Amino acid sequence: MSRQEITYNKKMNFNGFEIESIVAEPSSQYKLFETEFKDTQARQLKIFMELENGLAFFDGSAFGGQVHFQFASQTPVQRWYPYREGYSIRLVNAFIKELNITANTFDPFVGSGTTLLASRMNNLKSFGVDVNPISVLVAKVENEQYTKEDFDTFGKEIENMRTLEKSENDFDTSFYLADRVFNKDILRSLLQFKYHIKAIESEKVRRLFFVAWLSIIEDVSNIKKEGNGIKYKNRKRTPTGYVNIEKGVWEQQNFPSNKFHFVKTKILKQLEVILDDLKFKYGRCEIKPEIFLGSCLEFEKYFSDEIEFSFFSPPYCNCFDYFEIHKVELWLGDFVSSHKDLRSLRISGFRSNTNALDKKLVTYKNEYLENLIWLFDSKNLWNKNIPSVVRGYFDDMHTLLSKIYQRTCKKGLVGIVVGNSAYSGVIIPTDLLITEIAREVGFKTKSLFIARHLTTSSQQKKELEPLRNYLRESIVLLKK
Ligand SMILES: C[S@@+](CC[C@H](N)C(=O)[O-])C[C@H]1O[C@@H](n2cnc3c(N)ncnc32)[C@H](O)[C@@H]1O
Repeated sequence: MSRQEITYNKKMNFNGFEIESIVAEPSSQYKLFETEFKDTQARQLKIFMELENGLAFFDGSAFGGQVHFQFASQTPVQRWYPYREGYSIRLVNAFIKELNITANTFDPFVGSGTTLLASRMNNLKSFGVDVNPISVLVAKVENEQYTKEDFDTFGKEIENMRTLEKSENDFDTSFYLADRVFNKDILRSLLQFKYHIKAIESEKVRRLFFVAWLSIIEDVSNIKKEGNGIKYKNRKRTPTGYVNIEKGVWEQQNFPSNKFHFVKTKILKQLEVILDDLKFKYGRCEIKPEIFLGSCLEFEKYFSDEIEFSFFSPPYCNCFDYFEIHKVELWLGDFVSSHKDLRSLRISGFRSNTNALDKKLVTYKNEYLENLIWLFDSKNLWNKNIPSVVRGYFDDMHTLLSKIYQRTCKKGLVGIVVGNSAYSGVIIPTDLLITEIAREVGFKTKSLFIARHLTTSSQQKKELEPLRNYLRESIVLLKK
């Protein structure tokens, strides 16, 4: 299919995914101002309808299973590190193929490097940026070129590790929560392995080992990543509320007595997975992507090439804090060694959560957004800074899209995987607002593929019921 034919008719095949053209949501599904709508809901709908003007909508439910990490955890290379906020290689691949992309690609929120993995499969030069040093490491390791010699050294180092005995030394960590997050002997074993890995001579092999080590931390710890943060596994929800099982008792019930052997087995298992993927040459790439640690709002500092296709998923405007969720790995992996370090990372990220807010000013103004913020019920906002997060988020989005527009070649394309969010009964339709900002900065065609609908907390459910179709994850497609 050629670039000019992006407008789809009825049902069509989008590189293996069935896509169907649909009409914008409210005109077909809602009768505006009927009595079942509360005033605030009718006002939201009116704003949404205005934003929908001129957009082409598609039922993209065929992409529903691809906008999250579910399949990635079984995909060679992508399974080296459980980056749960990632999407699938297949999704990016479908867009690259369907849109006939032949030149440079870019992911301003590289995460685990999925866009880059798909680009290199298609022999395209790619660029990626991320503020999280763990993402940059994972994306680099997964997109590295591994030679036969690297493969052999990797195999030898695995054998070395197999023979490693438990040390009686004490190992230090600056992680202030280490004693709560880990069993004492598991922590000591993890640290022993970290020092062992740091001494591996070959840089490429050392990094592979380090990613394997990072990837098992959650599994052998007392915490799990859940929702918007980390939760202790010994805190259990029961019908009558939460109960805390005493740390020592919980550890005894859940970990075997030989903790060193337990940790070693987990790392070795992960290393075998990597070895298998390398054996089948998944770790090969002809064109190596360029990946930078820093903010995408300054991506012009890192490279100056023109881009044909940007494909990415920004943080959603839902107060999810990426640094909170990766905090254990950041501390234990020595990416941060003080609260100050963590704070500077947090404020360097997109203003998608309250911890990312700094003294940065908001210069971008959007009337639709202001009208939605005006509908917030301030008594029911769980944090008084939410209006600042929402304004900051779209200010950052405006800066980014303007810069991407300038760098995109004529007729170049941008695909954005994004979810909408809600605060105090008001939906922030990020997908629609992005198309509005895109129009303002100069993008011409705008299509929206609705990939899946999202659920919300039970308190918000009733409040949002008539508008629930807007709680969704979409793929916005823009053309210059
Ligand atoms: C949804 S994830 C991207 C996942 C990625 N598409 C994948 O498949 O692995 C969003 C990423 O944006 C990063 N991020 C947040 N603010 C950023 C900023 N200002 N510049 C660059 N990256 C940022 C986060 O660290 C996170 O890795």
